[in-house]
Amino acid sequence: MTDEANIDSTVDELLTLNQRLLESIAGGDWESYTELCDSGLTAFEPEARGQLVEGLDFHKFYFDLEQSASPWNVTMISPQVMLLGDDTAVVTCVRLTQRLVDGAPATSKFEETRVWHNDQGTWKHVHFHRSANG
Ligand code: GLY
Repeated sequence: MTDEANIDSTVDELLTLNQRLLESIAGGDWESYTELCDSGLTAFEPEARGQLVEGLDFHKFYFDLEQSASPWNVTMISPQVMLLGDDTAVVTCVRLTQRLVDGAPATSKFEETRVWHNDQGTWKHVHFHRSANG
């Protein structure tokens, strides 16, 4: 494979993994989320009120809440992948999630920066920053 084809294939793999990660969140699929994340995941997200949270327990709280059976759809808008050497990547996008809220369709929006690290051939999600600006 040429270097360019290799890069394209890595970018495709990371976009697929990032989409799977977002779908695991939308679907409340803790098993998939933990498969994709490093146990030392660090995060800034609105729920953490400006604090850097470390590890998976903070996130598990939300997965443990009862999930509604309502349909959902997750879309990454303008996803970008920046490869930093062979083992680190930054994926940025706006995440749109469509759901039913009180029986009516509603869309939430977050700006996201997610960092992935390749440890011995397996990409793991190691850090993210998620903002919500309306
Ligand atoms: N709060 C879980 C995540 O955005 O990865």
